[in-house]
Amino acid sequence: MDKICRKVAIVTDNPGWHGKQLKKSLKDHGINSDYLSLTNCLIKITGDICDIKLPGFEELPLGVFVRGVPGGTLEQVIFRLDLLHGLHDLGVTIFNSPKSIERTVDKPLTSILLSRAGLPTPRTWICETTCQANEILERESKNNKKIVLKPLFGSQGIGMHLIDQKTGLVHDEKFAGIYYLQEFIERKNNGFRDIRVLVIDGVAKAAMTRCAQNWLTNRAQGANCEPLELNQDLSQLSETACRVLEIDYAGVDLVEDKYGAFHIIEVNSIPAWYGLQKVVDFNIADCLIESFIKSIAKNNSLLLCSN
Ligand SMILES: Nc1ncnc2c1ncn2[C@@H]1O[C@H](COP(=O)(O)OP(=O)(O)O)[C@@H](O)[C@H]1O
Ligand SMILES: [Mg+2]
Repeated sequence: MDKICRKVAIVTDNPGWHGKQLKKSLKDHGINSDYLSLTNCLIKITGDICDIKLPGFEELPLGVFVRGVPGGTLEQVIFRLDLLHGLHDLGVTIFNSPKSIERTVDKPLTSILLSRAGLPTPRTWICETTCQANEILERESKNNKKIVLKPLFGSQGIGMHLIDQKTGLVHDEKFAGIYYLQEFIERKNNGFRDIRVLVIDGVAKAAMTRCAQNWLTNRAQGANCEPLELNQDLSQLSETACRVLEIDYAGVDLVEDKYGAFHIIEVNSIPAWYGLQKVVDFNIADCLIESFIKSIAKNNSLLLCSN
């Protein structure tokens, strides 16, 4: 019987529930895997050969499922992405691809690409000087309007601020010297809810509403997850966003404004699915692993070795 010999690397420093789900699903599909920390790898360049050593892997992995890229200095983060690019160039399937991770982790780049593609996304200003940021805040927060100030590389609602003429600019070291300012989308009845759509293989598979006690509706900030039936509008927007960002799978965050129009807030290339799993009736890890295996098979027809 054909047996898959090489292991998959699940990139994470903190496997937790998601890591275990992926490992189990891979095992159920006949594939062994190990967790891998990007903080402990080596790039070896000799002449025209670039080799990459991964702890715990004697040979190149069958594929790499990226569950987490740890933060650090800019240099450390770039090096960790270089490792993923290097593995990709050696023919290893990386899920999501390093290019799409770069595009989505970088909030300004996501905003640029979404708006260029004509997708609805909030009006956004990105600048370096406090003087420019103050001018934008002054101009855009007239008539009691609020502005969202976000870290460029944020997640889980950390380091987000809602500002206006009264608060003025807020200083937070998470901004790292760049101001990312965005119009605040007011929701129906001033409610605190947003929508997460999971897209896999270019198709919107499931959605949920996240309801919170305040304007930040991340599950990590205490929001409750409720099932939401996908409609054509939501599916189409989320699928187009993924096509534009050339991403295999993603968690797309949308806010519905008080007139019923959707705005794409962000596209997550390393989305958690613990909350979504509680409100859907299929196994999300299995669905992801099936898509991952399809990518591996497409990328490398010599996967299987007789044993
Ligand atoms: N422009 C906005 N208008 C209204 N709410 C927003 C806006 N931007 C973000 N939010 C709220 O803050 C949450 C977190 O923002 P997001 O950009 O997704 O950052 P993170 O990467 O931290 O999740 C969103 O899910 C949404 O509830
Ligand atoms: Mg988000």
